[in-house]
Amino acid sequence: MKIGNIELGERPVFLAPMEDVTDIGFRMLCKRFGAAMVYTEFVSAEALVRDVKSTIQKLTIADEERPVGIQIYGRDVEAMVEAAKIVEQAGPDVIDLNFGCPVKKVAGKGAGAGMLQNIPKMLEITRKVVDAVKLPVTAKTRLGWNAEQLVITDLAEQLQDCGIQALTIHGRTRAQMYTGNADWTLIGEVKRNPRIHIPIIGNGDIKSLEDADRAFDTYGVDAVMIGRATFGCPWIFSRKELTLDEKIDVLEEQLRINVERIDEYRGILHTRRHLAASPVFKGIPDFRQTRIAMLRAEKVEELLRILEECRERLKN
Ligand SMILES: Cc1cc2nc3c(=O)[nH]c(=O)nc-3n(C[C@H](O)[C@H](O)[C@H](O)COP(=O)(O)O)c2cc1C
Repeated sequence: MKIGNIELGERPVFLAPMEDVTDIGFRMLCKRFGAAMVYTEFVSAEALVRDVKSTIQKLTIADEERPVGIQIYGRDVEAMVEAAKIVEQAGPDVIDLNFGCPVKKVAGKGAGAGMLQNIPKMLEITRKVVDAVKLPVTAKTRLGWNAEQLVITDLAEQLQDCGIQALTIHGRTRAQMYTGNADWTLIGEVKRNPRIHIPIIGNGDIKSLEDADRAFDTYGVDAVMIGRATFGCPWIFSRKELTLDEKIDVLEEQLRINVERIDEYRGILHTRRHLAASPVFKGIPDFRQTRIAMLRAEKVEELLRILEECRERLKN
């Protein structure tokens, strides 16, 4: 399948954009293990326009992770257009518009999934961003605001008419936040709509490549996107099973890349979260104490020492 001119192969599996999770080191590793496309976490349009340094830093991408999408969110039309132009300068392959974030500080202010309550504005932003940049623009949204307003079937056509080149659908409503199960039936319906010609990327509760295969078979989507199941597990995209040593080596590399490419403080902060959630450590008896130590570690050496300890404990 293709987004614009970007060839993404057959049945591609993508890494979902996730705040404080899909940083540069993690994206590079997911790409290495087979993610066809990766996304930055969402970046505030208003903060970009105000030139906030920590926000600008989120636009840093590496050639090794391409194709990569940078995702922006905001509620103001002008700010979204300006932000898209700033993002274009950073050189991603795609600009993705976030119309799905359910958290109160975003959706409550009308941005992210909040746009599902103001679809004319969502469409205006989309149209104007598409017109303002040369890069392919894509969007990511949910089924609707709540179970009474499942707007996605019409919305997909409307967004397509605005000129987006792919649409990601998370099979939940805003009201569901992250609870319950993702409902893929409407995603499948959008995909089967003969008027839809842009690629449809399905998202929600995919925990393995086997789940992704089932989603392709059952719903006919063009791509599948994985979010939470990737935490501490960038090899989820690999068809080959890694050994324990290889997995721990990967996590150590993730830490090193992030410290090098972001900075020690934030690089550690981001990586700690992956380590504490990684499925690798599931077999360790009384892991709780180690997990707390991981989440408190402030120095690279300290984290590496904990990781080496885990390696030994898993081998014995
Ligand atoms: C910690 C966290 C951060 C997220 N941040 C973003 C984000 O920045 N942009 C976005 O579009 N979705 C974000 N999401 C939603 C995911 O991209 C994805 O749609 C959702 O988790 C469902 O997929 P999953 O069941 O595979 O996790 C986030 C989800 C989580 C759990």
